[in-house]
Amino acid sequence: MKKELTLVALTTLALAACQPTRKDDYGWIKKGLDVASTQLQLTASEVESSGMFPRSIYTSGNIYFLTWQLGRDSANIRRVRQPAPDQLGQRRLCDAYDWTSGFFPGSLWYAYELTGDEALKAQAIRYTNRLNPVRHYRGTHDLGFMVNCSYGNAQRLAPNDTIATVMRETANNLSSRFNDTIGAIRSWDFGTWHFPVIIDNMMNLDLLFAVSKATGDSQYKEIAIQHAITTLRNHFRPDHTSWHVVSYNADGTVERKQTYQGRDDQSAWARGQAWGLYGYTSCYRETRDTLFLGEAIRIADMIMSHVRTNDAIPYWDYDAPASIETPRDASAAAITASALIELSTLVPTGEQYLDYAEKILKSLSSDDYLARKGENQGFILMHSVGSLPNSSEIDTPLNYADYYYLEALKRFIDVKKIKLS
Ligand code: GLY
Repeated sequence: MKKELTLVALTTLALAACQPTRKDDYGWIKKGLDVASTQLQLTASEVESSGMFPRSIYTSGNIYFLTWQLGRDSANIRRVRQPAPDQLGQRRLCDAYDWTSGFFPGSLWYAYELTGDEALKAQAIRYTNRLNPVRHYRGTHDLGFMVNCSYGNAQRLAPNDTIATVMRETANNLSSRFNDTIGAIRSWDFGTWHFPVIIDNMMNLDLLFAVSKATGDSQYKEIAIQHAITTLRNHFRPDHTSWHVVSYNADGTVERKQTYQGRDDQSAWARGQAWGLYGYTSCYRETRDTLFLGEAIRIADMIMSHVRTNDAIPYWDYDAPASIETPRDASAAAITASALIELSTLVPTGEQYLDYAEKILKSLSSDDYLARKGENQGFILMHSVGSLPNSSEIDTPLNYADYYYLEALKRFIDVKKIKLS
């Protein structure tokens, strides 16, 4: 009996091996784009009259859950202003000065580019114009996120002189936050740090690279390069994970190394690692300096060996307790996927990065993460974490998870030369 079964199994295997490999029809990409277009259109029309931007869904943090995730007692847990009970589960909006304001217009641009749907383009223009006042703002390093993801994509897909002017003004304002002695751009204006620089700030450099290229003025690029070098020197640990916040004294020496959004000062906050990977990959693309490529490769390898989930969507912090209850961060996964796809095109051993990015994208495009049309308050992806230690946006959609998911799909389609018919 046992022998017969073995023979049957072997015959089945042999037959399977003779079948031509089933060509991937990329149904998961089509499904992701279909959901994305519907959700974005729905949200754009629902939010239109508010003059605001969709950011996430309001959640609240349970103190017992927080003490467990953070390994701290309740007295050491910060809690930002909690949403009112009737806000829970509702869409959270933000204004143009919020650090996430550029992502929704940016998602509309990517969705338009991927589908050719003119209605998406009209909404992309409308929501990008809503950000116009930000051109006069200097209060944060996040100007790169805000303006490059919105106006930057507009300039790529529907260029005009007004867009170029907004980008240049914003690059001037971002550059005004650069300190020559420290060699970095100041991130935040709040808190007790003397001169805080967060790993996320690597993401604002693409605006400076873009404006240098557009204007032929190298000063923006020089600032970006110096910021990246200073960050490389001080943000990374021997195992290639990074601190979230490094604060500097006036003479450029390090004042403190800490976390704000990670589990603890020595942990590897998942989105922070993704920001670093993305930022150094961009720096190599723009400079071809192998110093930056080496860092991008080291971070990529570290991420792929630190993820402890089967679906490649990391827990919100690589050092959070591994458990079914521990929130995963789809935003970190989407940013990582987008960066890995670009990295795969820059190195001879790129296949491993592309394969890993594909695994992430398939997970994000599955029912576990991709919203059903008309649900999830109009966001595309579920299950991200904004700032768990601040008890804010825990296991919720985030507009930047959606943005980097679409960017990663676009990059994947381009690299694989996929024709979606
Ligand atoms: N830049 C803030 C964050 O990643 O949450």
